[in-house]
Amino acid sequence: MEVLILDTPEAAAELTARVIAKALRDNPHLTLGLATGRTMERVYGLLVRMHREERLDFSLACTFNLDEYIGVSADSPNSYHHYMYEHLFRHININLRHAHLPNGMAADSAAECRQYESAIKNHGGIDLQLLGIGRSGHVGFNEPLSALFSRTREKALSPETIAQNSRLFVGDEPMPRRAITMGVGTILESRRCLLLATGAEKAAIIAKAVEGPITGMISATALQLHPHCTVIVDEAAAAQLENTEYYRWIFENEPEWEEFRC
Ligand code: GLP
Repeated sequence: MEVLILDTPEAAAELTARVIAKALRDNPHLTLGLATGRTMERVYGLLVRMHREERLDFSLACTFNLDEYIGVSADSPNSYHHYMYEHLFRHININLRHAHLPNGMAADSAAECRQYESAIKNHGGIDLQLLGIGRSGHVGFNEPLSALFSRTREKALSPETIAQNSRLFVGDEPMPRRAITMGVGTILESRRCLLLATGAEKAAIIAKAVEGPITGMISATALQLHPHCTVIVDEAAAAQLENTEYYRWIFENEPEWEEFRC
C-alpha cells in the first residue's frame, strides 16, 4: 500500500482522475471498478471534463460498480444506477451495455450476486478499482464483520451507514436497510485499488484503515493485503496518520509519480 497526501480535496480528486485517465489511455479496453458517494463526484466531474476537452475515450471500456441498494429501482433518484448516470455515464461515450451495476430489484438476489461475480470474471477481472470509504470503514457496503474473503452478496447496512446515507435520500423513499455489494475478496482480486478519502470526518477511519491492524471490523484494512493499492487523501483526511513523512517522501521521489507531481 502507498499513501499520497495532497494539499486540498480538489488536488486529491484531480490526482485520482489523472490516474484513472492514464490507465484508460494505456488500455482502452480497461475494466474499471466504480464507487459512489459525495467524494467521487469531483472525480467524475474531472473525467467528464477530460472526455470533453482532452478526448478521453470510454468507448471500449467496461465498468462494474461496487454496490446498489436493495429495493431501490434503477430509475429512482436514490439509486446508484441514477447516481452513475447523472454524474458520469450520460456525459461520456461509454457503451451503457458495458456499464454494470448490481440489480437491487432482482427477484432472486442470491442469483443476481452470483451472476455479477461471473460477469466480472467473464470480463477478465477488474483492472482498476476505485474506492471511497464510509465512516464505519466500509468499502462498497462491506460493513463491520464482513468476511475478508467475502464475495458479492446481500449485506445489512450498519446504523452508522444508514444515518450517514439517509441524509442523501430525496423524496418519500425510505433509506433501505440492505444492499448488494461486491465482497472484500472480490475487491482484493482487482489488479489495482485506488482509494480516495477527503475531509476531516474521514481522518480517524483513514488512520485505522492504513496504520491499524487488519480486522473484519473495518473492511478497508483488508486493502493492506493488496499488492497494488494506492490511498489518496487530502491534508484533512491525513490528519491522524503517523507516518506522514515517509508517505510524502514516496510521492515526491518515486519515479511512478513524477508525471503526476505538477
Ligand atoms: C457509500 C458507498 C461507499 C462509499 C461511501 C462514502 O456508502 N457505498 O462505496 O465509499 O458511500 O461516501 P462519501 O464519499 O459520501 O463519504
